[in-house]
Amino acid sequence: MASQTTATDPTPTTGTGNARFNTDAANWDSNPSIQLATSLAFESYLSRLPPPSELSSFNVLEIGCGTGLLSLLLAPHVRSLTAVDAAEGMIDVLTHKLSSVGSHAQIKNVRPVACLLEDPEDPIIKIDPVTGEAWDGNMKFDLVISHLVLHHVADLSALFKTIYGTLKPSSTHGHQKGGGRVITTDFENFGPEARRFHPEAKMEGVERHGITKEEMEGVLKGVGFEEVKVERGFVMQKRVESEPGKGDMERGPVVEFPFLVCEGRRV
Ligand SMILES: C[S@@+](CC[C@H](N)C(=O)[O-])C[C@H]1O[C@@H](n2cnc3c(N)ncnc32)[C@H](O)[C@@H]1O
Repeated sequence: MASQTTATDPTPTTGTGNARFNTDAANWDSNPSIQLATSLAFESYLSRLPPPSELSSFNVLEIGCGTGLLSLLLAPHVRSLTAVDAAEGMIDVLTHKLSSVGSHAQIKNVRPVACLLEDPEDPIIKIDPVTGEAWDGNMKFDLVISHLVLHHVADLSALFKTIYGTLKPSSTHGHQKGGGRVITTDFENFGPEARRFHPEAKMEGVERHGITKEEMEGVLKGVGFEEVKVERGFVMQKRVESEPGKGDMERGPVVEFPFLVCEGRRV
């Protein structure tokens, strides 16, 4: 099997409240705010990850990869990256980038998967992106990442419970070794201005106007993560509508949006 096959789960992707991502996918990468958020997030992730000697052995799972902007930056630093998104349109764009005629044809360790992941044991994520072979059913990931997704998720505890289940447990054999880690990034709900992150026309599927430190600490600890840390990672300047619904982001005022980095480790 080719290493960059697209796996498609029969789960309908329109039932997630995120149907708009199928139509937005074609123009996703042309949005400068999305590109900027990705590069700022990538720096945040790299600064928190282990050195290359360790990182290069990591099998990584990304939830809500979109068109793979972050996936394709991280892939050269890790062994493999399984890139999951609920919107088939997003996965189609990523698959094209990785195809022989695509812009990232040299990347051979990313596997796009169209799926709303709810079961950590779902065999759809248990295929090695490098070899194309099925992994042992007990296979777990070293790292789960997710960028700009949490504000679209209705039940954060359910999502983090699933993430927890996909991560390696800590090993008690020989040397005590910590389990797999989760690191996520999303904009902070810093008050009423946070609503302006999205233009009014793009509110479909927005479950919350950013995340807060308190709620994220509660969610991660509630699910059982240890070494929980939620902190501001970076601030992104973004043009917003001058008035709600005006649709004039190109000329609107610039607002500073802080982003929270949420970290935890499976026991
Ligand atoms: C705002 S986009 C961000 C995409 C990408 N991370 C980026 O920054 O370009 C949110 C993405 O999360 C996906 N998504 C939302 N909830 C999801 C879930 N529970 N599982 C997988 N993907 C999900 C959507 O389909 C959408 O592509």
